[in-house]
Amino acid sequence: MRKAEINLDCLQHNAEAIRRLRPCQKILAYVKSNAYGHGLSEVVKALNDHVDGYGVVGLQEGLKCRQLTSLPVVVNASASDLKTLIAMSAHQLEPVVFSLDYLEKLLKTPVSWPRIWLKINTGMNRMGLHHSDVSKAVTLLQQSGRVKSIIPMTHLADSSMSIDNKHQLARFRDWVDKSSFSSSSYANSAAILESNDHRHGEWIRPGLLLYGWTPEENQTHLIDLKPVMSLFSQILSINHLSSGSTVGYGRHYVAKQPHLAAMVSFGYADGLPRQIHTAKVLLGEAVGEVIGLPSMDTACVYLHSKAKVGDWVEWFSPRHSLHHLAASSQTIPYEILTRLSERVERVYVKEYDKVEG
Ligand SMILES: Cc1ncc(COP(=O)(O)O)c(C=O)c1O
Repeated sequence: MRKAEINLDCLQHNAEAIRRLRPCQKILAYVKSNAYGHGLSEVVKALNDHVDGYGVVGLQEGLKCRQLTSLPVVVNASASDLKTLIAMSAHQLEPVVFSLDYLEKLLKTPVSWPRIWLKINTGMNRMGLHHSDVSKAVTLLQQSGRVKSIIPMTHLADSSMSIDNKHQLARFRDWVDKSSFSSSSYANSAAILESNDHRHGEWIRPGLLLYGWTPEENQTHLIDLKPVMSLFSQILSINHLSSGSTVGYGRHYVAKQPHLAAMVSFGYADGLPRQIHTAKVLLGEAVGEVIGLPSMDTACVYLHSKAKVGDWVEWFSPRHSLHHLAASSQTIPYEILTRLSERVERVYVKEYDKVEG
């Protein structure tokens, strides 16, 4: 069995920690990708009294979110076909306009919009209007008479406030300051933590911070977070490996001396990255290491001390950082969280101390 213990008290704690850090901003909680793997419904219900709105991707997430909240729901990267746009409007979902093409389709839809978000490309070069198209887009929106309010937004490319991020922000400010909008938005988790340019009434857009992790491990001192998810899986069998025996597909691990190895129910179909290498896991107070390549359903752990079938292996938790698993797998916390499959049972717990146990 595999289980993700999800502590909703910690989630609320993190939202409040963000609020304390940026008290004059409005929080658009990013709950896309099933709330970063934590479960959209439970997360939205837990956050409703702690944030000011939600950010999701696509109509389906938007509709699911709308059933759970009356707060603003902003829909990124949605399709621009007539049916989708009409459904969005009918459910008061706020579109993010990221191209002139999208805008044209939006304005052809026979509905009005209380608010749209105008995404400007300031250097990420992923989605967003080129700066030379922004004035045209604003004029089209204003002339249409069908949009009450526009919020310009941009997205920064680096996970710390690098020089390039500062240049992106300067371009955004330069443009927003020449216009007269009631609010704007640029800060994801990294910028919430590291930027010192936050304006009254601006929308901040935390994702990862809400779930208790900072984008970079060296940012943890900047905010008081509590990891929301702890991931465990059970030992299925224990093998005696003799010196020279190998483990798993491709025989990537060769035992240098006889030792015990546990087969653990967590494989790449559950979301364990196949490229994981020398990651530490916890078995109660003991430590083990992942050896060999994970297979679809299982991984193998080097045992240094006694363990038995049914014991729980801890992959990450408040006492064992997700950053370690991510770094050992040449990836980032975001990828691990959002790739946990449905096979991993989500168990919702309340008291933080229970998870720390
Ligand atoms: C447009 C936008 N804003 C905010 C976020 C939240 O980012 P983070 O999880 O780094 O806070 C994302 C996530 O990818 C995003 O795409």
